[in-house]
Amino acid sequence: MLGANMQITVLGATGVLGHQLVENLVNRGHAVVEAHRSGGVDAYRDHGLQEAVAGSDWVVDCLNLQTLSPGRAVDFFTTTAHHIAEAARTSGARVAVVSIVGAANPALHRSLGYYKGKAAQESVYHDEVPPERLLMFRSTQWFELVETLLNQTSLGPIAAVPHMRVQPLAVADAAGFLADAIEQNHSGDRAVAGPDVRDMAELAAQVAAVRAKRTLVIPITLGRVLRQNLLLPDDGALIGTTSWADWLAEFRAAQSR
Ligand SMILES: NC(=O)c1ccc[n+]([C@@H]2O[C@H](COP(=O)([O-])OP(=O)(O)OC[C@H]3O[C@@H](n4cnc5c(N)ncnc54)[C@H](OP(=O)(O)O)[C@@H]3O)[C@@H](O)[C@H]2O)c1
Repeated sequence: MLGANMQITVLGATGVLGHQLVENLVNRGHAVVEAHRSGGVDAYRDHGLQEAVAGSDWVVDCLNLQTLSPGRAVDFFTTTAHHIAEAARTSGARVAVVSIVGAANPALHRSLGYYKGKAAQESVYHDEVPPERLLMFRSTQWFELVETLLNQTSLGPIAAVPHMRVQPLAVADAAGFLADAIEQNHSGDRAVAGPDVRDMAELAAQVAAVRAKRTLVIPITLGRVLRQNLLLPDDGALIGTTSWADWLAEFRAAQSR
């Protein structure tokens, strides 16, 4: 069977997506090399990368830097992409990159620093990895991002969350779609999204209402770009099956455990 019993290096294995991807791939019977800085692999400094990728069929870039600065985002995502593309070229591994639906659109990344970094990351991979060995896996926002945004925008008991039109999915669904594409040795683009279009500020208010730490969400309007449809997928995206209602019910239950 195509893609059976592969060795896959997951960079960012301790992250929100990387952790779920590792679990998913191991459950399918693949050998996984889990890479992150505390395990001695630094993709930015190019330390331990060649060793982590050697012998693998795939290397998956699930790295992240939380920043709103365009300079820091571009520096991190392009430097790591150069190093990973080089390690993959040396070892012969295919490359899967986790990016964001819409990030490559200048109308979006012109005003959002983080997305500028993701757009630059995509360019490096397109320039440096042969297309038949590159999977550009673009996801919409994850349900799990809602609480992250809530925390990032909080000042004491109040959070100012922007109105954003999003079509989010559960990170577990994103990890499953990514594992499917890897097993199929898929190259080219693949987009994944959630079942419904929602307003991020409304989702944040719902998370705030059920978590232990009480926060009052004030929806704010941050320019037109976030209210347009630039973060939504084109037709043809794979759609996750976990609904927001089911995810929120599980989130609520986890709060009381
Ligand atoms: N959040 C969303 O809704 C969403 C949606 C679509 C796409 N994405 C994309 O998905 C990717 C993963 O996001 P995430 O939220 O899962 O990330 P995350 O939770 O912030 O985890 C980042 C991972 O990268 C590792 N890391 C950071 N710097 C490193 C370095 N220099 N060398 C090696 N490892 C390093 C971290 O481990 P250590 O700190 O231990 O090194 C950690 O395992 C990102 O590229 C993001 O743009 C996110």
